[in-house]
Amino acid sequence: MAEKKIKWGILSTGWIAHKFATALQVAANSELYAVGSRTIGMANKFAGEFHIPKAYGSYEELLNDSAVDVVYIGTPHNLHLENTLLALDHQKHVLCEKPMGVNRTEEMCMIEKAKEKNLFLMEALWSRFLPNIIKTKELIDSGEIGNVKLLTAFFSMISDNGPEHRHYNIDLCGGTILDTGIYNIFLSLLLLGKPKSISAIAGLSEQGGDNSCSYTFKYEKDTLAVMFSSFLADPAVVAEIHGTKGKIILDHFWFCPGKVKLTYRDGREKIFEFDFKSNGYEYEAEETAKCILAGKTQSDSWSWNDSIQLVSTMDAIRKQCGIVYPKHDL
Ligand SMILES: NC(=O)c1ccc[n+]([C@@H]2O[C@H](COP(=O)([O-])OP(=O)(O)OC[C@H]3O[C@@H](n4cnc5c(N)ncnc54)[C@H](OP(=O)(O)O)[C@@H]3O)[C@@H](O)[C@H]2O)c1
Repeated sequence: MAEKKIKWGILSTGWIAHKFATALQVAANSELYAVGSRTIGMANKFAGEFHIPKAYGSYEELLNDSAVDVVYIGTPHNLHLENTLLALDHQKHVLCEKPMGVNRTEEMCMIEKAKEKNLFLMEALWSRFLPNIIKTKELIDSGEIGNVKLLTAFFSMISDNGPEHRHYNIDLCGGTILDTGIYNIFLSLLLLGKPKSISAIAGLSEQGGDNSCSYTFKYEKDTLAVMFSSFLADPAVVAEIHGTKGKIILDHFWFCPGKVKLTYRDGREKIFEFDFKSNGYEYEAEETAKCILAGKTQSDSWSWNDSIQLVSTMDAIRKQCGIVYPKHDL
């Protein structure tokens, strides 16, 4: 029997849209059918690169194509709310880049709309669906390293972009927390759950966004998660989880496709390696297609509640650091 496929429309043609389109070439139950850009020139260029049948010079035109089942949104953070609501209003299922909304209020608004329209909505938190992250969670949940006492997760890079770029531009909700820090926070929430308390401190830019931020979560008794993100330095992007019986190390670019190294206290070691079909974004695409074909409005693996918990934690960190997005935190 022929594989059931959903038709994807990609909304925007930037860096991440390229990665996602690459992955869609191999994703199960998926057909890359259309792309929409603010300009027809960019849409045509993108369509040519990925052999996409339909190219549109506006987001509305893409959404007016009744053959599009689901839209992938890869615009800057500040536009996720507007673009998602527009897509849902056009009866499209949505996979929206992280952060789904820039604060809890925005995300609640998106979720309410998805509920009202009975459509699928998920934050594109791609790492959640990678086999190395799934394996890490299985190992922690099954008690393989005992009780977790310390999690460390870092995601920094030097961003040479100017103040107008979305990394720094406060009107575009710039700063590390929503861009790279979100992955550290996600890992801690996924593996250890909701913290008892949070302690955060940031180095702010002149615009008021965070150029660097550190955040420590305290869990039951003496368990800590210590995390850091920066646009000004590039220490190794690694994560470690230390338990009473052993530790798990996720190497450089820990949030990407990779391997899992488990070391017991007695020195025994196990390495878990995985085959990846593409660049890793295929897993979130396949989860989306699977859920839509099953008639679901949210994923069990990365649910609306998961997104809300993540953004609420980022809201709390921003509050402690005095970071306000002037056009969004009204
Ligand atoms: N999951 C991941 O691994 C990952 C990695 C990087 C980024 N991201 C997320 O993806 C989103 C986009 O990041 P990116 O690095 O791909 O950004 P980017 O390269 O700047 O691309 C953003 C695209 O959004 C569209 N856009 C619409 N209005 C815009 C505006 N006012 N200014 C700039 N672009 C506008 C543009 O496409 P058109 O001109 O075609 O309309 C642009 O190419 C962010 O929310 C980020 O957090 C996720």
